[in-house]
Amino acid sequence: MRKPEPLVEILSTGRYLPDQIVTNDDLSKRMDTSDEWIHSRTGIRQRHIAPDGVNTADLGAGAARRAMEKAGIDPGEVDVIVVCTSTPDRWMPATACDVQALLGCSNAFAFDVMAACSGFMYGLSVAEGYLASGRAEIVLVIAAEKMSSILNWNDRSTCVLFGDGAGAALLRRANGSGRGILSAHLRSDGNLAHLLCRPAGGAIEPISKRVLEEARHLVHMEGREVFKNAVRSMAEACDQALQQAGMTADDIDLLVPHQANVRIIEATAKYAGVPMEKVFVNVDRYGNMSSASVPVALDEALEQKRIGPGSHVLTVAFGAGLTWGAMVLRW
Ligand code: COA
Repeated sequence: MRKPEPLVEILSTGRYLPDQIVTNDDLSKRMDTSDEWIHSRTGIRQRHIAPDGVNTADLGAGAARRAMEKAGIDPGEVDVIVVCTSTPDRWMPATACDVQALLGCSNAFAFDVMAACSGFMYGLSVAEGYLASGRAEIVLVIAAEKMSSILNWNDRSTCVLFGDGAGAALLRRANGSGRGILSAHLRSDGNLAHLLCRPAGGAIEPISKRVLEEARHLVHMEGREVFKNAVRSMAEACDQALQQAGMTADDIDLLVPHQANVRIIEATAKYAGVPMEKVFVNVDRYGNMSSASVPVALDEALEQKRIGPGSHVLTVAFGAGLTWGAMVLRW
């Protein structure tokens, strides 16, 4: 099969994590849990939590500034800002507009993409469309999440799993460089939306005293079902993305999966046929940062030189929606 020629490449990446670290032991002082329970089931040891006053837009702008510095791109050069988030600062307007104001990207148009933990992958594919069609020269894709603001801190089965943070990438046309997005396989299944959602607080059932009392404006998850679907969907997405790129798992230098749970990561890698030495894992330090997990992991992998010029990277994510997807990238 002829290998696809990438239309769009990633110029640079950046990440931003709030300073405050909350360990499993810290949580065990506030609720009935333990480092042993959390670590043995998820691989998580700690997560970063943003304080009051540090919002999703601040996290996203922090990650974007790093990416722009690295690429030597000025705010005025950015044509489109896509913010992927499940934790918008307000319901209206889009958090992307707040990010634009913080960055001073006065020539850009800005909007949010909501695909939960798969958000960054959806955001990249939106960027690919604008760039490939010639409607933009530089696109900034930011994944920013203040998960701590939407968790039910009285529900130990979900609140221990997540953390706050942001990652970003600047994209431009590949112009024959051979680097960039080789394939993308994205899917959704709205029939399973109830497995991971915030049941109330939107148009179906606006915020009310009752909603607040029952904490139905916060994250609700059926953990076991989500686990099963995550493994199945991510394995299928890896297969499809590899096939589209005309590659096999042996061609992949690094698998960068969504960082929800080390057991999900291990199962996905096994199905995809990638040995764990070639899998990037940082869930122990950050927990699940939803859409920010993949770009933060990519940025760290680049910094640690686990990704270099010519590397083939398989990224894969899964989240609420349900949404999932995988991409093969060449650096
Ligand atoms: N600390 C201690 N005990 C806890 C706990 C916690 N933080 N959270 C739940 N428990 C208890 C439950 O009350 C339950 O107790 P019971 O058996 O007395 O009723 C028990 O632990 C459940 O344990 P177990 O059956 O081992 O849970 P599990 O193996 O299903 O693991 C998850 C739970 C959440 C870790 C697992 O289902 C999971 O990782 N799911 C995927 C979640 C995810 O990653 N979502 C995001 C995808 S993008």
